[in-house]
Amino acid sequence: ISLKPYNTFGIQAHAESFVDIQQESDLKELLTHLDQEAQEILVLGGGSNMLFTKDFKGLVIKVSIPGISCVENGDEVMVTAGAGVVWNDLVNFCVARGFAGLENLTLIPGTVGASPIQNIGAYGVELKDVFNSCRAFELATGKIVTFNHADCKFGYRESIFKNELKGKYIITSVTFKLNKQADVNIQYGAIKNELFERNIKQPTIADVSKVVAAIRVSKLPDPSTIGNAGSFFKNPVIEGKQFDELIAKFPEVVHYPAPAGKIKVAAGWLIEQCGFKGKIVGETGTWKNQALVLVNHGKASGQEVYNFSEQIIDSVRAKFGVLLSREVNIF
Ligand code: EPU
Repeated sequence: ISLKPYNTFGIQAHAESFVDIQQESDLKELLTHLDQEAQEILVLGGGSNMLFTKDFKGLVIKVSIPGISCVENGDEVMVTAGAGVVWNDLVNFCVARGFAGLENLTLIPGTVGASPIQNIGAYGVELKDVFNSCRAFELATGKIVTFNHADCKFGYRESIFKNELKGKYIITSVTFKLNKQADVNIQYGAIKNELFERNIKQPTIADVSKVVAAIRVSKLPDPSTIGNAGSFFKNPVIEGKQFDELIAKFPEVVHYPAPAGKIKVAAGWLIEQCGFKGKIVGETGTWKNQALVLVNHGKASGQEVYNFSEQIIDSVRAKFGVLLSREVNIF
């Protein structure tokens, strides 16, 4: 089966076998077959954070579990969504009902099931700020396990599912803790500017969602027309001492405070300074409005994109002494 329709980079690659999961019980049934075959497994949501560099000799499990339900308790609302729900559909569902918390995460590509894995975040909010718990299928035992907030060990684009428990669980649903008492988060500069431009003084969550959508559309390429997986690299978090040396040489460096006295540096800035912004190399390149996003201009192979990303890492290391790490999963 071709994986091209299942990855937003639009990379051509093939998988040996493929199964679509519609409910938790499908996973139990699948496990009985897996025991005999012991093949490699790849769990797929929206395919918006991966780069295939070769064919996959194993079983792709596409999780399509649908459904959104809510339990209200005063101003608090617990919203549970199936892992296969498209992330932005969930955002729209909540914004339309006045449930605050997800509006800053408008238009992030991908599915609900993938959202805790890398603790998705944008415009001043991370999934961990609204996450309550998730259910997950344990591949080794076939049991459904509930993970609460602390269990997930969330960090910047990190969770236990990317680290200790990588490949061991399949998330089947996620429960979010939202609130009807709209407490909008507009600390992010780009949101403030856009609200000011529109002369919106008392923004509702619907306003914030609209503004975030507009910012994203202006900065980020639409995967339905130009293949991409959002930010290709993470913003590097470096030690204070290394940062002091960096800013002494490059006073303009865009940066933010990070936990434990560390500093987060804008990778897009570093990459742009190396002359890569909007650069086209064969069928790949960086996006013209956001150097942190690598794109497929049509016929790129995964290997070509990967090689280009190596070139970027080398340039940034040579110029700034900062090591970029990939945010996108490489297969
Ligand atoms: N910048 C440049 N040149 C560029 C791009 C950025 O100089 O080509 C500088 C600008 O000064 C800009 C700053 O970097 O003000 C930050 O850029 P931006 O606001 O676009 O955010 P980012 O740090 O590049 C992160 C997330 C995005 C998220 C935005 C908004 C990561 C790896 N990326 O990008 O998430 O949408 O913030 O919150 O943390 C994703 O993870 O796929 C993703 C798109």
